[in-house]
Amino acid sequence: MKKITFIGTGYVGLVGGAGISEFGHQVTCVDIDQEKIERLNAGEIPIYEPGLKTLVKKNVNKGRLHFSANISKIIQKSDIVFITVGTPQGSNGEANLSVVEAVAKTIGENLNGYKIVCTKSTVPIGTGKRIEEIIRSVNSMGDFDYVSNPEFLREGAAVKDFLHPDRVVIGTRTQKAIDLMEEVYRPLYINETPILSTSVETAEMIKYAANAFLSLKISYINEIANLCESVGADVHEVARAMGLDGRISSKFLHPGPGYGGSCFPKDTHALAATGQKYGSPLRTIEAAIKTNESQKVRMVEKLSRLMGDSVNGKTIAVLGLAFKPQTDDVREAASRVIVSKLVELGASVHAYDPIAMDNFKNHFPNIKYFDSWQDAVKSADGCIILTEWNEFRGLDLNELKDLMRFPVILDTKNILSIQGLESCGFTFDNVGRKLHQ
Ligand code: UDX
Repeated sequence: MKKITFIGTGYVGLVGGAGISEFGHQVTCVDIDQEKIERLNAGEIPIYEPGLKTLVKKNVNKGRLHFSANISKIIQKSDIVFITVGTPQGSNGEANLSVVEAVAKTIGENLNGYKIVCTKSTVPIGTGKRIEEIIRSVNSMGDFDYVSNPEFLREGAAVKDFLHPDRVVIGTRTQKAIDLMEEVYRPLYINETPILSTSVETAEMIKYAANAFLSLKISYINEIANLCESVGADVHEVARAMGLDGRISSKFLHPGPGYGGSCFPKDTHALAATGQKYGSPLRTIEAAIKTNESQKVRMVEKLSRLMGDSVNGKTIAVLGLAFKPQTDDVREAASRVIVSKLVELGASVHAYDPIAMDNFKNHFPNIKYFDSWQDAVKSADGCIILTEWNEFRGLDLNELKDLMRFPVILDTKNILSIQGLESCGFTFDNVGRKLHQ
């Protein structure tokens, strides 16, 4: 059993802290946000993540998971300190590392015996070296090993991804650190999860290379979908056949309004910026970023076309605001760009999302929000689906048609039946599918 600290109790820190306490270690999640710590100590979970509340509660009750704002004291008592603070995108596309650097300094000031300092946040290649330098600059005699242990969890499936990962990457220099990290992940080791030991720089690169590749895959299928529309092909059939080739795989070949979230947009920009910095540009990734941006705008153009070439003065129901289902996160969501453009073009937006409305209100306080999809579509001139929530997959098309002023719908997630829409008399469009059966 190891004593472990997570500095930064956001998505990665809270899921990671709860997950590692589940592996049997003594974990304390710390944060400078005193209020957040008080809420966690009162049993409140600040983010929505399936299974997280139960996992936190279980491990708090077992006495293995704690929350504290006393960062220095907790670091001193730890064997392993995970850095899980945010790395937002700076104005130049590169990740902003000021918080990571401040944390490294605090760790250096509290190194009172051998510890592992391990970064889980996604940080640009070379950050590990920088963190080591900062720690040494405040504590030249400090005894520690640095580890890069990138996190691959998906929002909405984060607990499952943490407890059953495809692989664990441990980037470090010494065998002592590898052994200790393997002990942390021991239950996975027994499950035969691949545990890859690499250099720090390689581990840092793996995370970016993986996320950028997935973004590339999505932008690729979105462009294929757009071409399918022009040539009369069906992107789902194309994607299915492509995916049956084991070299390609069927995952991440779903077309849509453009990817969003806290990782892909930020990580692709950061990797592209790193490529430029080292004179080794990643042109494929730069193209994937551009394609993603234009895909969002394309959705507004499609909707305008469906509505007689203008949304000005029209009421548009927007169903789904989260960047994907099972999350209340709206960071970089396609909805942000699309709603903003619709408002700019003079539309009145009536929005509904099962759980992401509160977060969306922080960015768009002036559009109208409704408590059900039925209320949002009432008397609307057109409707656009942006998130594939299950309740939209099953929505009653007759009821939808009766509620709307005009039966016009853009299904950007291709979740509605074309046959159903046709037989109900909808004017509709989707992404990359034939419009007639
Ligand atoms: C992603 C990675 O999957 C994860 O490994 C990494 O650590 C963090 O980033 P996440 O951002 O939570 O996770 O969501 P993910 O499910 O990967 O979806 C990202 C975006 O891509 C969403 O907007 C989603 O709608 C979109 N997407 C995904 C598609 O448009 N098509 C697809 O085929 C898959």
